[in-house]
Amino acid sequence: MVPRALTSVVVAAILYAGVAGAISLHAAQDATTPATSLANALPPDADGEYIFKNNCATCHGPDGKGSPQSVVGFDVPLPDFTDCPTNTVEPFGDWNSVIHRGGPIRGLDHHMPAFGDALSDAQIESVVKYLWSLCDNPAWPRGDLNFPRAFFTEKAFPESESVWTTGISTSGPKSIGNDLVYEHRIKQRSQYEITIPIEFQQTTPSGWVKGLGDVEFALRRSFIANLEHSFIFAAGGAVTLPTGKDEVGVGEGVTVWEPFAMFAKGIGANGFVQVHGGYMASSNRTNVENSTYLRQAWGYTYAQDHGFGRAWTPMAEVLWSKESHGGPNVVDVVPQMQVSLTKLQHILLSVGVSVPATEREGRHPQFLTYFLWDWFDGGLFQRK
Ligand code: HEC
Repeated sequence: MVPRALTSVVVAAILYAGVAGAISLHAAQDATTPATSLANALPPDADGEYIFKNNCATCHGPDGKGSPQSVVGFDVPLPDFTDCPTNTVEPFGDWNSVIHRGGPIRGLDHHMPAFGDALSDAQIESVVKYLWSLCDNPAWPRGDLNFPRAFFTEKAFPESESVWTTGISTSGPKSIGNDLVYEHRIKQRSQYEITIPIEFQQTTPSGWVKGLGDVEFALRRSFIANLEHSFIFAAGGAVTLPTGKDEVGVGEGVTVWEPFAMFAKGIGANGFVQVHGGYMASSNRTNVENSTYLRQAWGYTYAQDHGFGRAWTPMAEVLWSKESHGGPNVVDVVPQMQVSLTKLQHILLSVGVSVPATEREGRHPQFLTYFLWDWFDGGLFQRK
Protein backbone atom coordinates (compact mmCIF):
# COMPACT_ATOMS: atom_id res chain seq x y z
CA MET A 1 0.00 0.00 0.00
CA VAL A 2 2.89 2.35 0.65
CA PRO A 3 3.65 2.85 -3.05
CA ARG A 4 0.02 3.84 -3.72
CA ALA A 5 0.14 6.38 -0.93
CA LEU A 6 3.45 7.71 -2.10
CA THR A 7 2.16 7.90 -5.65
CA SER A 8 -0.53 10.36 -4.64
CA VAL A 9 2.06 12.61 -3.01
CA VAL A 10 4.32 12.40 -6.05
CA VAL A 11 1.41 13.16 -8.38
CA ALA A 12 0.51 16.18 -6.23
CA ALA A 13 4.10 17.42 -6.34
CA ILE A 14 4.31 17.04 -10.13
CA LEU A 15 1.03 18.83 -10.58
CA TYR A 16 2.16 21.76 -8.44
CA ALA A 17 5.50 21.95 -10.20
CA GLY A 18 3.80 21.73 -13.59
CA VAL A 19 1.36 24.51 -12.89
CA ALA A 20 4.03 26.75 -11.42
CA GLY A 21 6.29 26.04 -14.41
CA ALA A 22 3.59 26.81 -16.96
CA ILE A 23 2.97 30.08 -15.22
CA SER A 24 6.54 31.29 -15.11
CA LEU A 25 6.94 30.26 -18.76
CA HIS A 26 3.91 32.32 -19.59
CA ALA A 27 5.11 35.33 -17.64
CA ALA A 28 8.08 35.63 -19.99
CA GLN A 29 5.82 35.71 -23.04
CA ASP A 30 3.48 38.52 -22.02
CA ALA A 31 3.61 41.44 -24.38
CA THR A 32 3.76 44.70 -22.51
CA THR A 33 0.70 46.82 -22.95
CA PRO A 34 1.61 50.01 -24.80
CA ALA A 35 1.20 53.18 -22.80
CA THR A 36 -2.18 54.49 -23.66
CA SER A 37 -2.77 57.60 -25.64
CA LEU A 38 -6.44 57.33 -24.84
CA ALA A 39 -6.43 59.24 -21.59
CA ASN A 40 -7.82 62.68 -22.24
CA ALA A 41 -6.69 65.71 -20.34
CA LEU A 42 -9.00 65.71 -17.33
CA PRO A 43 -10.18 68.61 -15.23
CA PRO A 44 -8.66 68.35 -11.72
CA ASP A 45 -12.04 67.72 -10.13
CA ALA A 46 -13.06 64.95 -12.55
CA ASP A 47 -14.96 62.24 -10.68
CA GLY A 48 -15.07 58.51 -11.43
CA GLU A 49 -18.02 58.81 -13.77
CA TYR A 50 -16.41 61.63 -15.75
CA ILE A 51 -13.17 59.64 -16.08
CA PHE A 52 -15.07 56.57 -17.20
CA LYS A 53 -17.13 58.43 -19.81
CA ASN A 54 -14.01 60.09 -21.23
CA ASN A 55 -11.46 57.28 -21.12
CA CYS A 56 -13.19 53.96 -20.90
CA ALA A 57 -16.62 54.23 -22.48
CA THR A 58 -15.36 53.80 -26.06
CA CYS A 59 -14.57 50.18 -25.25
CA HIS A 60 -16.64 49.50 -22.15
CA GLY A 61 -19.76 51.29 -23.46
CA PRO A 62 -21.40 54.37 -21.94
CA ASP A 63 -23.53 52.05 -19.75
CA GLY A 64 -20.58 49.77 -18.80
CA LYS A 65 -22.00 46.77 -20.64
CA GLY A 66 -19.25 46.70 -23.27
CA SER A 67 -19.20 48.11 -26.80
CA PRO A 68 -19.88 45.81 -29.75
CA GLN A 69 -17.04 44.40 -31.82
CA SER A 70 -18.00 46.78 -34.67
CA VAL A 71 -17.10 49.74 -32.42
CA VAL A 72 -13.97 48.43 -30.69
CA GLY A 73 -12.53 46.62 -33.71
CA PHE A 74 -11.40 43.51 -31.80
CA ASP A 75 -13.26 40.35 -30.89
CA VAL A 76 -12.32 39.96 -27.22
CA PRO A 77 -15.59 40.00 -25.29
CA LEU A 78 -15.84 42.96 -22.92
CA PRO A 79 -17.01 42.45 -19.35
CA ASP A 80 -20.53 43.58 -18.45
CA PHE A 81 -19.96 45.79 -15.40
CA THR A 82 -23.72 45.90 -14.71
CA ASP A 83 -23.69 42.12 -14.14
CA CYS A 84 -23.38 41.85 -10.34
CA PRO A 85 -21.59 38.46 -10.19
CA THR A 86 -18.90 39.83 -12.54
CA ASN A 87 -18.82 43.21 -10.84
CA THR A 88 -18.48 42.03 -7.24
CA VAL A 89 -16.22 38.98 -7.47
CA GLU A 90 -12.84 40.74 -7.76
CA PRO A 91 -11.34 42.67 -4.86
CA PHE A 92 -10.29 46.31 -5.35
CA GLY A 93 -6.64 45.31 -5.81
CA ASP A 94 -7.29 43.28 -8.95
CA TRP A 95 -9.07 46.02 -10.88
CA ASN A 96 -6.69 48.62 -9.53
CA SER A 97 -3.83 46.53 -10.97
CA VAL A 98 -5.56 46.03 -14.33
CA ILE A 99 -6.26 49.76 -14.74
CA HIS A 100 -2.72 50.74 -13.66
CA ARG A 101 -0.82 48.13 -15.62
CA GLY A 102 -3.20 46.90 -18.33
CA GLY A 103 -5.00 43.58 -18.91
CA PRO A 104 -1.96 41.25 -18.98
CA ILE A 105 -1.03 41.99 -15.33
CA ARG A 106 -4.03 39.85 -14.35
CA GLY A 107 -3.87 37.49 -17.31
CA LEU A 108 -6.48 39.48 -19.28
CA ASP A 109 -6.35 40.68 -22.86
CA HIS A 110 -3.77 43.29 -23.92
CA HIS A 111 -6.49 45.45 -25.50
CA MET A 112 -7.21 46.64 -21.97
CA PRO A 113 -4.66 49.49 -21.81
CA ALA A 114 -2.49 50.57 -18.89
CA PHE A 115 -3.59 53.90 -17.40
CA GLY A 116 -0.95 54.09 -14.67
CA ASP A 117 0.89 56.95 -16.43
CA ALA A 118 -2.23 58.81 -17.53
CA LEU A 119 -4.30 58.73 -14.34
CA SER A 120 -3.36 59.34 -10.72
CA ASP A 121 -3.86 56.69 -8.02
CA ALA A 122 -6.81 58.67 -6.67
CA GLN A 123 -8.39 58.97 -10.13
CA ILE A 124 -8.04 55.21 -10.66
CA GLU A 125 -9.60 54.57 -7.27
CA SER A 126 -12.53 56.86 -8.11
CA VAL A 127 -13.13 55.11 -11.43
CA VAL A 128 -13.09 51.68 -9.71
CA LYS A 129 -15.68 52.99 -7.24
CA TYR A 130 -17.74 54.22 -10.19
CA LEU A 131 -17.54 50.75 -11.79
CA TRP A 132 -18.72 49.24 -8.49
CA SER A 133 -21.79 51.51 -8.57
CA LEU A 134 -22.87 49.88 -11.86
CA CYS A 135 -24.03 46.80 -9.92
CA ASP A 136 -27.25 48.11 -8.44
CA ASN A 137 -27.98 45.19 -6.10
CA PRO A 138 -26.16 45.67 -2.76
CA ALA A 139 -27.02 42.09 -1.70
CA TRP A 140 -23.90 40.90 -3.54
CA PRO A 141 -20.99 40.97 -1.05
CA ARG A 142 -17.88 42.67 -2.49
CA GLY A 143 -14.84 40.51 -3.30
CA ASP A 144 -12.84 42.56 -0.80
CA LEU A 145 -14.60 40.60 1.96
CA ASN A 146 -13.30 37.37 0.45
CA PHE A 147 -10.28 36.88 2.71
CA PRO A 148 -7.65 34.22 1.98
CA ARG A 149 -8.52 30.66 2.86
CA ALA A 150 -6.88 29.05 5.87
CA PHE A 151 -6.65 25.27 6.34
CA PHE A 152 -9.26 24.81 9.09
CA THR A 153 -10.94 28.15 9.77
CA GLU A 154 -13.71 28.31 7.20
CA LYS A 155 -14.57 31.40 5.25
CA ALA A 156 -17.66 33.55 5.64
CA PHE A 157 -17.68 34.53 1.94
CA PRO A 158 -19.73 32.41 -0.51
CA GLU A 159 -17.37 30.87 -3.06
CA SER A 160 -17.31 28.79 -6.20
CA GLU A 161 -14.12 26.81 -5.98
CA SER A 162 -12.54 23.39 -5.65
CA VAL A 163 -9.88 22.65 -3.08
CA TRP A 164 -7.69 19.61 -2.72
CA THR A 165 -6.09 19.46 0.74
CA THR A 166 -3.49 16.87 1.71
CA GLY A 167 -2.31 16.26 5.27
CA ILE A 168 0.70 14.03 5.94
CA SER A 169 1.86 12.72 9.33
CA THR A 170 5.40 11.46 9.25
CA SER A 171 5.93 10.78 12.93
CA GLY A 172 3.84 8.27 14.92
CA PRO A 173 1.49 6.12 12.80
CA LYS A 174 1.94 7.45 9.28
CA SER A 175 -1.09 8.75 7.46
CA ILE A 176 -2.03 10.69 4.38
CA GLY A 177 -5.42 12.35 4.27
CA ASN A 178 -6.83 13.95 1.13
CA ASP A 179 -9.90 16.15 1.26
CA LEU A 180 -11.55 17.06 -2.00
CA VAL A 181 -13.86 20.00 -1.43
CA TYR A 182 -16.31 21.31 -3.98
CA GLU A 183 -17.93 24.66 -3.16
CA HIS A 184 -20.74 26.15 -5.19
CA ARG A 185 -22.17 29.59 -4.66
CA ILE A 186 -25.96 29.94 -4.81
CA LYS A 187 -27.11 33.41 -5.81
CA GLN A 188 -25.76 36.34 -3.79
CA ARG A 189 -25.11 34.96 -0.34
CA SER A 190 -25.42 31.19 -0.09
CA GLN A 191 -23.16 28.26 -0.80
CA TYR A 192 -23.30 24.49 -0.64
CA GLU A 193 -20.28 22.34 -0.22
CA ILE A 194 -19.34 18.67 -0.48
CA THR A 195 -16.21 17.26 1.15
CA ILE A 196 -14.91 13.86 0.04
CA PRO A 197 -12.05 12.50 2.15
CA ILE A 198 -9.71 9.82 0.78
CA GLU A 199 -7.49 8.44 3.51
CA PHE A 200 -4.36 6.30 3.70
CA GLN A 201 -3.27 5.05 7.12
CA GLN A 202 -0.43 2.87 8.25
CA THR A 203 -1.73 0.19 10.62
CA THR A 204 1.28 -2.11 10.88
CA PRO A 205 4.91 -1.47 9.80
CA SER A 206 4.13 -2.83 6.33
CA GLY A 207 0.35 -2.57 6.21
CA TRP A 208 -1.76 0.37 5.11
CA VAL A 209 -5.48 0.83 4.91
CA LYS A 210 -6.98 3.19 2.43
CA GLY A 211 -10.41 4.29 1.41
CA LEU A 212 -13.21 6.78 1.33
CA GLY A 213 -13.70 8.54 4.67
CA ASP A 214 -16.86 10.23 5.93
CA VAL A 215 -18.45 12.46 3.31
CA GLU A 216 -19.74 15.85 4.47
CA PHE A 217 -22.45 18.13 3.05
CA ALA A 218 -22.69 21.73 4.21
CA LEU A 219 -24.87 24.73 3.54
CA ARG A 220 -24.13 28.29 4.63
CA ARG A 221 -25.30 31.82 4.15
CA SER A 222 -23.56 35.16 4.61
CA PHE A 223 -25.99 37.20 6.71
CA ILE A 224 -23.88 40.34 7.10
CA ALA A 225 -21.46 41.71 4.50
CA ASN A 226 -20.31 45.22 5.33
CA LEU A 227 -17.59 46.63 3.12
CA GLU A 228 -17.36 49.94 4.95
CA HIS A 229 -16.39 48.19 8.20
CA SER A 230 -14.70 45.32 6.34
CA PHE A 231 -16.79 42.75 8.17
CA ILE A 232 -18.60 39.59 7.05
CA PHE A 233 -20.63 37.08 9.06
CA ALA A 234 -22.04 33.72 7.94
CA ALA A 235 -23.73 30.73 9.55
CA GLY A 236 -24.84 27.31 8.43
CA GLY A 237 -24.91 23.64 9.10
CA ALA A 238 -23.27 20.42 7.99
CA VAL A 239 -23.94 16.72 8.18
CA THR A 240 -21.19 14.12 8.01
CA LEU A 241 -22.29 10.64 7.00
CA PRO A 242 -20.59 7.37 8.05
CA THR A 243 -19.50 6.48 4.51
CA GLY A 244 -16.02 5.38 5.65
CA LYS A 245 -14.76 2.04 6.89
CA ASP A 246 -14.55 2.81 10.59
CA GLU A 247 -13.74 -0.83 11.45
CA VAL A 248 -10.32 -0.27 9.87
CA GLY A 249 -9.92 3.30 11.12
CA VAL A 250 -11.04 5.22 8.03
CA GLY A 251 -13.95 7.39 9.13
CA GLU A 252 -15.70 7.55 12.50
CA GLY A 253 -18.74 5.34 11.88
CA VAL A 254 -21.27 7.90 13.16
CA THR A 255 -23.44 10.63 11.68
CA VAL A 256 -22.44 14.09 12.88
CA TRP A 257 -24.69 17.16 12.83
CA GLU A 258 -22.82 20.40 12.97
CA PRO A 259 -24.21 23.94 13.29
CA PHE A 260 -21.48 26.57 12.75
CA ALA A 261 -20.87 30.28 12.32
CA MET A 262 -17.96 32.34 11.09
CA PHE A 263 -16.93 35.95 10.76
CA ALA A 264 -14.01 37.77 9.24
CA LYS A 265 -12.71 41.29 9.65
CA GLY A 266 -10.17 43.19 7.60
CA ILE A 267 -7.37 44.85 9.58
CA GLY A 268 -5.81 47.80 7.79
CA ALA A 269 -5.42 47.50 4.04
CA ASN A 270 -4.06 43.93 3.86
CA GLY A 271 -4.50 42.19 7.21
CA PHE A 272 -7.41 40.09 8.46
CA VAL A 273 -8.70 37.86 11.22
CA GLN A 274 -11.20 35.06 10.64
CA VAL A 275 -13.04 33.15 13.36
CA HIS A 276 -15.09 29.95 12.97
CA GLY A 277 -16.93 28.11 15.75
CA GLY A 278 -19.29 25.18 15.86
CA TYR A 279 -20.74 22.23 17.71
CA MET A 280 -20.54 18.60 16.57
CA ALA A 281 -23.43 16.40 17.68
CA SER A 282 -22.76 12.69 17.19
CA SER A 283 -25.40 10.01 16.53
CA ASN A 284 -23.55 7.59 18.81
CA ARG A 285 -21.92 9.24 21.80
CA THR A 286 -20.40 6.01 23.10
CA ASN A 287 -18.20 5.90 19.99
CA VAL A 288 -17.76 9.61 19.28
CA GLU A 289 -18.49 12.23 21.95
CA ASN A 290 -20.06 15.57 21.07
CA SER A 291 -17.62 18.44 20.89
CA THR A 292 -17.29 22.20 20.54
CA TYR A 293 -14.63 23.94 18.47
CA LEU A 294 -13.33 27.44 17.90
CA ARG A 295 -10.78 28.26 15.20
CA GLN A 296 -9.11 31.51 14.28
CA ALA A 297 -6.80 32.59 11.50
CA TRP A 298 -4.70 35.76 11.42
CA GLY A 299 -2.95 36.81 8.24
CA TYR A 300 -1.55 39.50 6.03
CA THR A 301 -1.35 39.65 2.24
CA TYR A 302 1.72 41.02 0.55
CA ALA A 303 1.70 41.48 -3.25
CA GLN A 304 5.00 41.71 -5.11
CA ASP A 305 5.78 44.36 -7.71
CA HIS A 306 4.38 47.42 -5.86
CA GLY A 307 1.19 45.54 -5.02
CA PHE A 308 0.42 44.55 -8.63
CA GLY A 309 2.12 41.15 -8.72
CA ARG A 310 2.00 37.71 -7.13
CA ALA A 311 0.23 37.64 -3.74
CA TRP A 312 1.77 35.97 -0.67
CA THR A 313 -0.29 35.49 2.49
CA PRO A 314 1.40 34.24 5.65
CA MET A 315 -1.22 33.11 8.17
CA ALA A 316 -1.32 31.54 11.62
CA GLU A 317 -4.25 29.53 12.90
CA VAL A 318 -5.04 28.59 16.47
CA LEU A 319 -7.49 25.70 16.77
CA TRP A 320 -9.28 24.77 19.98
CA SER A 321 -11.69 21.92 20.61
CA LYS A 322 -13.16 20.20 23.63
CA GLU A 323 -15.34 17.13 24.01
CA SER A 324 -18.49 17.41 26.11
CA HIS A 325 -18.44 16.07 29.69
CA GLY A 326 -15.05 17.26 30.80
CA GLY A 327 -12.81 16.48 27.86
CA PRO A 328 -9.41 18.19 27.80
CA ASN A 329 -8.71 21.42 25.90
CA VAL A 330 -7.14 20.35 22.62
CA VAL A 331 -5.15 23.14 20.99
CA ASP A 332 -3.14 23.16 17.76
CA VAL A 333 -1.18 25.94 16.12
CA VAL A 334 -0.93 26.03 12.31
CA PRO A 335 1.55 28.42 10.66
CA GLN A 336 1.05 28.49 6.88
CA MET A 337 1.77 30.39 3.68
CA GLN A 338 -0.56 30.85 0.71
CA VAL A 339 0.67 31.98 -2.71
CA SER A 340 -1.11 32.74 -5.98
CA LEU A 341 0.15 30.65 -8.90
CA THR A 342 -1.57 32.52 -11.73
CA LYS A 343 -1.90 36.14 -12.78
CA LEU A 344 -5.65 35.78 -12.67
CA GLN A 345 -5.08 34.83 -8.99
CA HIS A 346 -7.54 31.97 -9.46
CA ILE A 347 -5.18 29.10 -8.62
CA LEU A 348 -3.60 29.15 -5.19
CA LEU A 349 -1.23 26.92 -3.29
CA SER A 350 -0.84 26.81 0.47
CA VAL A 351 1.61 24.93 2.68
CA GLY A 352 1.64 24.68 6.45
CA VAL A 353 2.17 22.49 9.46
CA SER A 354 -0.25 21.70 12.26
CA VAL A 355 1.53 21.44 15.61
CA PRO A 356 -0.18 20.12 18.77
CA ALA A 357 0.13 22.68 21.58
CA THR A 358 -1.71 20.70 24.31
CA GLU A 359 -2.47 16.98 24.78
CA ARG A 360 0.72 16.16 22.94
CA GLU A 361 0.76 12.53 24.02
CA GLY A 362 -0.01 10.49 20.90
CA ARG A 363 -0.68 13.55 18.71
CA HIS A 364 1.83 14.42 16.03
CA PRO A 365 2.61 17.33 13.72
CA GLN A 366 0.96 17.13 10.34
CA PHE A 367 2.27 18.67 7.13
CA LEU A 368 -0.47 20.31 5.12
CA THR A 369 -0.87 21.55 1.61
CA TYR A 370 -3.78 22.65 -0.50
CA PHE A 371 -4.33 23.44 -4.12
CA LEU A 372 -7.27 25.76 -4.76
CA TRP A 373 -9.01 26.45 -8.03
CA ASP A 374 -11.49 29.33 -8.12
CA TRP A 375 -13.41 27.99 -11.10
CA PHE A 376 -15.72 31.00 -11.38
CA ASP A 377 -12.68 33.06 -12.41
CA GLY A 378 -11.02 30.85 -14.97
CA GLY A 379 -10.25 27.37 -16.28
CA LEU A 380 -7.84 25.05 -14.47
CA PHE A 381 -5.57 24.81 -17.47
CA GLN A 382 -5.86 28.46 -18.37
CA ARG A 383 -2.25 29.30 -17.79
CA LYS A 384 -2.58 33.05 -17.21
C1 HEC B 1 -9.17 49.96 -25.96
C2 HEC B 1 -10.26 49.41 -25.27
C3 HEC B 1 -10.36 49.61 -23.78
C4 HEC B 1 -10.33 50.78 -23.08
C5 HEC B 1 -10.15 52.20 -23.62
C6 HEC B 1 -10.51 50.44 -21.70
N1 HEC B 1 -10.65 49.08 -21.56
FE1 HEC B 1 -10.92 48.07 -19.83
N2 HEC B 1 -10.89 46.31 -20.84
C7 HEC B 1 -10.80 46.18 -22.21
C8 HEC B 1 -10.87 44.79 -22.54
C9 HEC B 1 -10.79 44.20 -23.94
C10 HEC B 1 -11.03 44.08 -21.34
C11 HEC B 1 -11.26 42.59 -21.14
C12 HEC B 1 -10.01 41.79 -21.23
C13 HEC B 1 -10.26 40.31 -21.04
O1 HEC B 1 -11.36 39.91 -20.59
O2 HEC B 1 -9.33 39.56 -21.33
C14 HEC B 1 -11.01 45.08 -20.29
C15 HEC B 1 -11.11 44.76 -18.94
C16 HEC B 1 -11.20 45.69 -17.94
C17 HEC B 1 -11.33 45.38 -16.54
C18 HEC B 1 -11.30 43.98 -15.92
C19 HEC B 1 -12.67 43.44 -15.81
C20 HEC B 1 -12.71 42.05 -15.18
O3 HEC B 1 -13.68 41.36 -15.50
O4 HEC B 1 -11.84 41.68 -14.40
C21 HEC B 1 -11.43 46.56 -15.88
C22 HEC B 1 -11.61 46.75 -14.39
C23 HEC B 1 -11.37 47.61 -16.87
N3 HEC B 1 -11.23 47.04 -18.10
C24 HEC B 1 -11.47 48.94 -16.56
C25 HEC B 1 -11.25 49.96 -17.51
C26 HEC B 1 -11.24 51.35 -17.16
C27 HEC B 1 -11.51 51.91 -15.78
C28 HEC B 1 -10.95 52.03 -18.29
C29 HEC B 1 -10.76 53.51 -18.46
C30 HEC B 1 -9.92 54.18 -17.49
C31 HEC B 1 -10.81 51.05 -19.36
N4 HEC B 1 -11.00 49.80 -18.83
C32 HEC B 1 -10.55 51.35 -20.67
C33 HEC B 1 -10.65 47.20 -23.10
C34 HEC B 1 -10.57 48.55 -22.82
